[in-house]
Amino acid sequence: MWNYTDKVKELYTNPRNVGSISDADVVVEVGSIVCGDALKLYLKIDANDVITDAKFETFGCGSAIASSSALTEMIKGRTVEEARKITNRDIADFLGGLPEEKMHCSVMGNEALDKAIAKWRGEDISHSEDTDGEIICHCFGVTDKLIRKVISENKLKTVEDVTNYTKAGGACGSCIPRIEDIISDELKKFAESADRPAEKKPLTNIKRLQLVEDTIANVIRPELQKDGGNIDLVDIDGKKVYVALRGSCANCRLSDLTLKNFVEDKLREFVEDDMLVFEAGRD
Ligand code: FES
Repeated sequence: MWNYTDKVKELYTNPRNVGSISDADVVVEVGSIVCGDALKLYLKIDANDVITDAKFETFGCGSAIASSSALTEMIKGRTVEEARKITNRDIADFLGGLPEEKMHCSVMGNEALDKAIAKWRGEDISHSEDTDGEIICHCFGVTDKLIRKVISENKLKTVEDVTNYTKAGGACGSCIPRIEDIISDELKKFAESADRPAEKKPLTNIKRLQLVEDTIANVIRPELQKDGGNIDLVDIDGKKVYVALRGSCANCRLSDLTLKNFVEDKLREFVEDDMLVFEAGRD
């Protein structure tokens, strides 16, 4: 016996947004009654791309009804772009979780949403009626594309996981070797991306200014003060930093070295590695 959360029970016994929208802007169907679960999703979308109404009709278990209810509650009032970012994991989280064996219900809801958005955007989905990609599991009509998506979004590792999330592999089992190949391929990609150093994002001007100020206040100034000197930030222009040396540093004949070998080095270490430092008034 599966354990259902109170939210699942509530949305199963009192589902929200059941029915159709006669003047819907987009209507899509996913799943099939033959396979045990089917969902028809209706969306009304206004001129500002806001989903003003969402309804569904489903043939499926209590989890499918609760997942479809959750999906429609989650997307109403959101823009299409915001809705596009919703994953099956978000649907399950909205429900306070689903038994692993029922996760395929959240995947079906997410699949319907993806398909509805693609159709609304005018993408050709006629050739991809549940066949977007190569069919891997013929018993349940599950494609490689869907299997890869759920593996990656849910960090799945086993065939059993994939069956729980898509049903693939849950009947005759002849597709299991292909599912295993896809899992190992996705895990390999995941390991490769984990090994790759994260790409550095360029700093915004505000963030750069904050880091320069912090570095001067906490790293550079305390060192200069030890020898009776000081430093003020005068201006910043992109990665060019203009400063004024004060105290003993101001009259020091080695001030150019201090600027380049100490101030600039520290800013390159703590801010960005191509920062340039100039004395204010000199360029
Ligand atoms: S082909 Fe996948 S279970 Fe039969």
